[in-house]
Amino acid sequence: MTRIFSGVKPTGHMTLGNYLGAVRRWVEVDQREAEALFSVVDLHALTVEHDPARVRRLSRQAVTVLLAAGIDPELCTLFVQSHVEEHTRLSYLLECTAGDGELRRMIQYREKAGLARESGQGVRLSLLTYPVLMAADILVYGTDEVPVGDDQAQHVELTRDLAIRFNQRYGHTFTVPKATRPPVGARIMDLQDPLSKMGKSHESTAGIVYLLDEPDTVRRKVMRAVTDSGSGVVYDRESAPGVTNLLEILAACRGGDPAELAGTYSSYGTLKKDTAEAVVELVRPVRERHARLAADPGFVDEVVRKGADRARELARPRVDAAYAAIGLLPR
Ligand code: AMP
Ligand code: TRP
Repeated sequence: MTRIFSGVKPTGHMTLGNYLGAVRRWVEVDQREAEALFSVVDLHALTVEHDPARVRRLSRQAVTVLLAAGIDPELCTLFVQSHVEEHTRLSYLLECTAGDGELRRMIQYREKAGLARESGQGVRLSLLTYPVLMAADILVYGTDEVPVGDDQAQHVELTRDLAIRFNQRYGHTFTVPKATRPPVGARIMDLQDPLSKMGKSHESTAGIVYLLDEPDTVRRKVMRAVTDSGSGVVYDRESAPGVTNLLEILAACRGGDPAELAGTYSSYGTLKKDTAEAVVELVRPVRERHARLAADPGFVDEVVRKGADRARELARPRVDAAYAAIGLLPR
């Protein structure tokens, strides 16, 4: 059976990018052929300046949104990362497997460390080591597939390298996983700045569609999306990043091929209108179910409690094996 693992950080409200790039595919996993685990990876939210109360609130909200998106806790394991100590236990062994150079090369580290320094904040050491903890999240479950958006490809590559290296040095312990990406929507861009990824922790929110936005808010944001100065609706990330992003979103919501869709539009206005309606319809059920689930926090708590029990059970034997393999005296 294929083992699947993926996670989302509680650093902001979940976006359309999270949904199209990752979460929607988590819901679509065929549970007869795969065993899946999904996690709100809260430890990763501590790698940048954070507000404790907000992280707590966003963690519960992320679990609720995942349930609302259709993750069925009877069919897969849904849990909060910090509830399962095995992740951090394994992370240390992987720190002893990774080199500092390969972590300093990570694109996200360079970007985020640069921003933190510019704004006069310190760079937390955990921002550098974070991909190692991510590797532990994945390897601890013997994961085969990691459904993520494009921005995580480099981190999953590192995970593969660490698994291979550990196995070569200390004997076969880890499955070597691979990232899987959606055919369309692997990198949704900010509607106001189509050269940047739609990210949940951006300061300006005008170009970010949140999964829980009201329909009118979604419409306003899409209708005000930046388009390109050329004329005509063309699918080309280089010359027309704004329009191309809208075509990607529309194709991801409705199905179809974004390049072909381009040929069916002659004006930006109709493209925006159709895209707005497609997004509204796609996220409507999520928002409605979220409202119902949020009224029952007891249910959410119970889901993550059971999820953590199950995850721990799956993780422990592999971490114990890794501790033995690397040379630590068995307890
Ligand atoms: P994060 O918000 O960084 O925790 O990301 C959770 C998941 O959503 C990861 O698999 C990301 O690759 C994916 N994701 C985040 N932003 C986008 C985006 N703008 N487009 C596509 N996928 C995304
Ligand atoms: N680094 C991922 C992100 O920023 C979140 C994440 C942490 C993750 N651990 C993971 C994703 C394990 C997939 C598998 O989006």
